[in-house]
Amino acid sequence: MTQDQWTTVDHYIEELLLPEDATLEEARRASAEAGLPAIAVSPPQGKMLELLARLRGARSILELGTLGGYSTIWLARGLPSDGRLVSLELSPDYAEVARANIARAGLDGLVEVRVGPAIETLPELVAEGAGPFDLIFIDADKVSYPDYLPWTLELSAPGTLIIADNLVREGRVTDRSNDEPSIVGRRRFTELLGAEPRVNATLIQTVGSKGYDGFALGLVES
Ligand code: SAH
Ligand code: DHB
Ligand code: MG
Repeated sequence: MTQDQWTTVDHYIEELLLPEDATLEEARRASAEAGLPAIAVSPPQGKMLELLARLRGARSILELGTLGGYSTIWLARGLPSDGRLVSLELSPDYAEVARANIARAGLDGLVEVRVGPAIETLPELVAEGAGPFDLIFIDADKVSYPDYLPWTLELSAPGTLIIADNLVREGRVTDRSNDEPSIVGRRRFTELLGAEPRVNATLIQTVGSKGYDGFALGLVES
């Protein structure tokens, strides 16, 4: 099986289950035009995020890593009209692109994009009493995932759903001799998740237009 086949099947899924959506297509186009890397979640993955938010009955969502706001729009669509989403982004330029995309999606009343290193904006959210969030999507720099977990737990309550993207990275995480910081970060995060008594978690491998990867789902239980 090849990348071509995974991409073809993602297109098949989009054709049958994801009606054309001018807003989301425009967000992808505007992000590409602004020179953002093409690393947003795929359309089927975005739809899954929306469905998970709805299943959870989420009224508040926290996202780490906004990029152009593509996953942000999907997640915010899973919120009720009086819901709220805070998305954390390092790059002021990316955040500007995201805000425009989010406004075009009519979601600017629900969404706040906060600029800065997440390791600084997370404690700010705690200090403000911004939590607990019903759903937290971790998708920022993979090196720092282990440092983000304690902060996301501080911003959680029993019932919070934690989703963490890109934890398989073509299976490279299982190669213990691989000491690339982003691989070590993914592995350490997964170890911490497994050892965390408050969270009941799994990790699902995926293939698709974004290659071979995987995401963790964790339910905060206490
Ligand atoms: N969630 C987006 C993709 C995010 S890509 C989507 O699926 O549409 C990862 C993002 O994390 C990038 O935009 C990158 O700028 C941001 N990032 C990298 N380091 C960060 C940090 N220290 N704090 C916050 N965001 C960071
Ligand atoms: C990268 C980041 C992501 O969040 C992703 O889903 C894929 C790739 C990256 O930084 O390369
Ligand atoms: Mg990702």
